[in-house]
Amino acid sequence: MSVNEALAARRTCRSFTREPLGGGVLDRLLDRARRTPTAGNCQGVEFLVLEGPDEVAAFWDTSLPSEKRSGFPWPGLLLAPAIVIPFGLPEVYLERYGEEDKVASGLGADAADWPVPYWLTDAAFVAMALQLLVVEENLGCCFFGLFGNEGVVRRRFDVPESARSPGALAIGHPDHEHLRPSTSASRPRRPTASVVHNGRW
Ligand SMILES: Cc1cc2nc3c(=O)[nH]c(=O)nc-3n(C[C@H](O)[C@H](O)[C@H](O)COP(=O)(O)O)c2cc1C
Repeated sequence: MSVNEALAARRTCRSFTREPLGGGVLDRLLDRARRTPTAGNCQGVEFLVLEGPDEVAAFWDTSLPSEKRSGFPWPGLLLAPAIVIPFGLPEVYLERYGEEDKVASGLGADAADWPVPYWLTDAAFVAMALQLLVVEENLGCCFFGLFGNEGVVRRRFDVPESARSPGALAIGHPDHEHLRPSTSASRPRRPTASVVHNGRW
């Protein structure tokens, strides 16, 4: 499968079967996804990997407690056998950008000085690579925001308090019988000509 084909085939999946991913699949995907570029070659993205019914249930108990589940539109999302959350570690970037070849950037002292928080950029790049690799594996995937739950998820799973995540990925085998597109997904894709500004905006 080419990158072109993977991009064309990728759609967000919000309904999964309970079938496990199989030994080594996540390790392989994560190892390859980490080939994305990282600012200053910091490689400052680490992953919280929750796999199997107990770990995944602990995630949903933390981020979507049972009393909030009755109106949840995608119950099949909760069946995914794995949740992967990439976290960028700001301190890795500060240390790297304080090194001799980067110190002139002035970004080595304080995360608040960064016009773009590259730890989140790098984590988002990895998340995108994972979404394409998942297509190649004939699996499904939903990237979703943690919104106000980032802190409780961090604390529940002992993630360092400084770590920041662009969002989580539910990964598994799509339940083709119960796929239910979101209202967002029904929005038509904007024509390329309306988003590309050649020469000037
Ligand atoms: C930054 C970001 C946040 C998203 N958050 C959610 C989310 O919280 N819940 C969800 O179901 N989908 C979420 N999505 C998936 C989008 O709704 C989806 O990508 C979009 O509707 C286009 O559909 P497609 O991925 O099938 O092409 C998110 C996607 C991105 C890139």
